[in-house]
Amino acid sequence: MGGVRCSSSRCPDMNTNRNVANHYSQGDLLQRLNSALIEDGVDPAHPQVETLAPYDQFHGRGLEATEEIVAAIQVTSTDHLLDIGSGIGGPARTMALRFGCRVTGIDLTPEFCEVARHLTRLMGLDSRIDFELGDALAMPFTDGTFDGAYSMNVSMNIADKTALYAEIRRVVKPGGWLMLSELAKGPGEPLDYPTPWAASADTSFLSTPAETRRGLEAAGFEVVQFRETAAEAKAFGARSRAMVERGEKPPHRAVQLIHGEIAALAMKNSARGVAEARIIPLEILCRKRPC
Ligand SMILES: C[S@@+](CC[C@H](N)C(=O)[O-])C[C@H]1O[C@@H](n2cnc3c(N)ncnc32)[C@H](O)[C@@H]1O
Repeated sequence: MGGVRCSSSRCPDMNTNRNVANHYSQGDLLQRLNSALIEDGVDPAHPQVETLAPYDQFHGRGLEATEEIVAAIQVTSTDHLLDIGSGIGGPARTMALRFGCRVTGIDLTPEFCEVARHLTRLMGLDSRIDFELGDALAMPFTDGTFDGAYSMNVSMNIADKTALYAEIRRVVKPGGWLMLSELAKGPGEPLDYPTPWAASADTSFLSTPAETRRGLEAAGFEVVQFRETAAEAKAFGARSRAMVERGEKPPHRAVQLIHGEIAALAMKNSARGVAEARIIPLEILCRKRPC
């Protein structure tokens, strides 16, 4: 217990990381994914973006939110993108297919990295996408490696946002972009747990929108676009509930896949947080200022 605490901003918090990875991992994700695909009438050996999207876009509004990032950024086929907290790789595969670019994902949950690599191989994208097991606070990349970086629903697990933004800034080229699709803290009561990203408040670290903007600017990013997307989240929730009432599957089934028994409560807590403005979904586009 306890152990030696590292004071460096690039030293990962091993306890938090272990608890975060445990929250996301039950050990049999690939079997459960394959069963879900078979139930959908999809051959697990030949997955495609659309057939995987209900499961591999593990963030609010799923593929719809990823498409908004695609629409907001300018990427060429020679660019190299970084996906911070890449999960099982849905966003990375979307980017690689849309732009023909190279993508590197980094994630601290080993099972997610394994499943991400497997699905990417099956889709024939492994020459352009790789997944590293690691911590966003201490990334194994040299300075200025990436033309752009994005992160979807990850920073809620990271307490030290100053270190996170500094580390992202370090690995992005001067003038490069960063796009965040995140959940921020609204006014009002603390959140109820579990949520899709945390079993308890011990691994949940939401900043307010104002803190988020200030943190990015202090780290050396120019904020180009800063958008609250609660209305979109509520509309997506209403559409999903209507589909379920009609006896159809909802478009986003990643939380059920990954969290099994606690999924329903986690989604209910998160939807109530958004409805009561205790959670504020954000989409932020920034550019790295030259020094
Ligand atoms: C809600 S999931 C989102 C996954 C993916 N971005 C997506 O949208 O499909 C959050 C992810 O962040 C990862 N994560 C949390 N803290 C991290 C950290 N410090 N470094 C790297 N990955 C982290 C988790 O392992 C998990 O895969």
